[in-house]
Amino acid sequence: MIELCGIPLAHRVINASGTFDAIAARRAFGDALLERFPFAAFVSKTVTVERREGNPPPRLWEQPAGMINSIGLPNKGLEGYLAQDLPRLAELPVPLIVNVMGFTREEVARLVAAFAEREEVAALELNVSCPNVKTGMVMGADPGETAALMDAVRPLTAKPLIVKLTPNCASPAAVAAAAEQHGADAVSLINTLRGMAFHPRRPGRPWLGGGSGGVSGPAVRAVALAQVAEVSARVAIPVVGMGGVQTAGHARALRLAGADVVAVGTESFRDPLAGAAIAEGLAAAEGENGVPDPGAANAANTGVQAGASGAAGAPVAG
Ligand SMILES: Cc1cc2nc3c(=O)[nH]c(=O)nc-3n(C[C@H](O)[C@H](O)[C@H](O)COP(=O)(O)O)c2cc1C
Repeated sequence: MIELCGIPLAHRVINASGTFDAIAARRAFGDALLERFPFAAFVSKTVTVERREGNPPPRLWEQPAGMINSIGLPNKGLEGYLAQDLPRLAELPVPLIVNVMGFTREEVARLVAAFAEREEVAALELNVSCPNVKTGMVMGADPGETAALMDAVRPLTAKPLIVKLTPNCASPAAVAAAAEQHGADAVSLINTLRGMAFHPRRPGRPWLGGGSGGVSGPAVRAVALAQVAEVSARVAIPVVGMGGVQTAGHARALRLAGADVVAVGTESFRDPLAGAAIAEGLAAAEGENGVPDPGAANAANTGVQAGASGAAGAPVAG
């Protein structure tokens, strides 16, 4: 048995927030989903204080190596989630991690305080990719903002707090270090990279209803590997690595870069059971105790190991 911040996990693969709708999957697959749930923990889609309808359509743009999404975080809001989603997600056979986001520190604090009381919730993931409307700064793009956020929410719960880092900033490692110093139990990365696509028949007009969106899937895998290596070299708390994972080999690479646990996102849209196959392959590659074999790291010769164990923040590529 593996653990993440004290949460027991049957294996090292979880889902990336917003990419696997466990309630819809249960409707589609029935109790068979519970018997063979693909992930070792379930991370719910971002919950905000108020209900959100999300962005106008179109919300997805498929690209050669992944997609750009501009979903806009539609959700039922805190009250709706507590009343309708939480009871159903609590039936899943794995620990529940609730992902939350606020537009001010006070909103994040309200969400954290509300979930702190719920025994169904094993941990909280803080989606800090959002601007603080009071300061104009993205909460996870600036170490000072992240530190202030952690100071506001850390006293509100003893549950593990996982800070989900954004790649759209100068130094995710500096933000991770600030999160750790101010009480985060783990960090997860990467969230999507900002991107846009033009309408195929209206030159210069954005395709996505939201204008721009977040790039995910194979296109971001190399970015994820670099950032996971850099962050892992900088912090001692556990790291959840994600970004473009499609195979056990991709998951293994993130592990070698320093991730304790790996999350599967976009790939689940193609195959809802991808997580299970990746978990099996990763466990087989790492042996029963899950400790990576250093010989295999050398054989992989990615250069990532050297970067991960070298000077903090040193470039790992090129
Ligand atoms: C359609 C879609 C919806 C997403 N929704 C959320 C979300 O609600 N909250 C969040 O923190 N990340 C969200 N993400 C980001 C993923 O959790 C993940 O960080 C990112 O997609 C990189 O992993 P991947 O390349 O395996 O998809 C979403 C990604 C996609 C593609």
